[in-house]
Amino acid sequence: MPELALPDGESRPVRRRTLAILVFAVLAAASVVGGALSGTVPGRTSSSDAPSAVASAAVATPTPRATPASLLPPVPVPVFDRSARSIDDPASAWVVVNKHRPLQPADYSPTDLVAVPVPHTWQPQLRQEASAAVEQMFAAARDEAGLTLASNSAYRGFAAQTRVYDAAVAARGVASADSSIARPGSSEHQTGLAIDVGAESGRCSLQACFGDTPEGLWLAENAVRFGFLLRYPADKVAVTGYEFEPWHFRFIGADLATEMHDQGITTLEEFFGLPAAPGYS
Ligand code: DAL
Ligand code: ZN
Repeated sequence: MPELALPDGESRPVRRRTLAILVFAVLAAASVVGGALSGTVPGRTSSSDAPSAVASAAVATPTPRATPASLLPPVPVPVFDRSARSIDDPASAWVVVNKHRPLQPADYSPTDLVAVPVPHTWQPQLRQEASAAVEQMFAAARDEAGLTLASNSAYRGFAAQTRVYDAAVAARGVASADSSIARPGSSEHQTGLAIDVGAESGRCSLQACFGDTPEGLWLAENAVRFGFLLRYPADKVAVTGYEFEPWHFRFIGADLATEMHDQGITTLEEFFGLPAAPGYS
């Protein structure tokens, strides 16, 4: 058949090529639109038209790129809430009692005292939560280090503290008594949250050398795990007002004990921003 002259002067083979290109372009566009509508993308096999679709998709999945740390939003660090519990309420595990901060009322007595089932020289009583923590601590000392701890004193009410203080004054005078025994109404023992711990052997009981015994060393290292604070450290006499007492542990709860330990703060006065209490005001 003779070639027909085309209006623009193109020859028929050229026109066919143009049509073929147009058809290809339309088909390619349809493939893109169809892929978008069916949830696939060009170049990917849909699950209906290939048996190895899952494997193909896995191979084709682009590897996510790690975002540089500098571009990530900062992760907020939880701030310890120092006001979560009262430091004034004698029934609070965070109560701060010292020579400037007597218990209020002075004859406060806890309502949930229980007998602490541990070896002792005097039958110890503590508030329930502190008692449970003492049991766990003594069991850990035995299981982890083969040490047998004992209680030398725990809760002392106003009357008992009066007897202890008066005996110390009679034996050594007021100044010396005040350096190691709290006046009635000002002792942590009256909160039911403090315990004087010793070795069952009695070695160095209630003496500074207890700090060098295996029991004293273990307690200094591990009491924090059970929520206890070594309340009268050797280097904080000017803050606490009391000589080194490596046997006196105050229950403050694991949250606060851990926070103080992590921050390297060893007295409640410093942690809560309270004035040092070297003497009675
Ligand atoms: N030994 C401590 C300070 C007390 O008597 O409470
Ligand atoms: Zn004590």
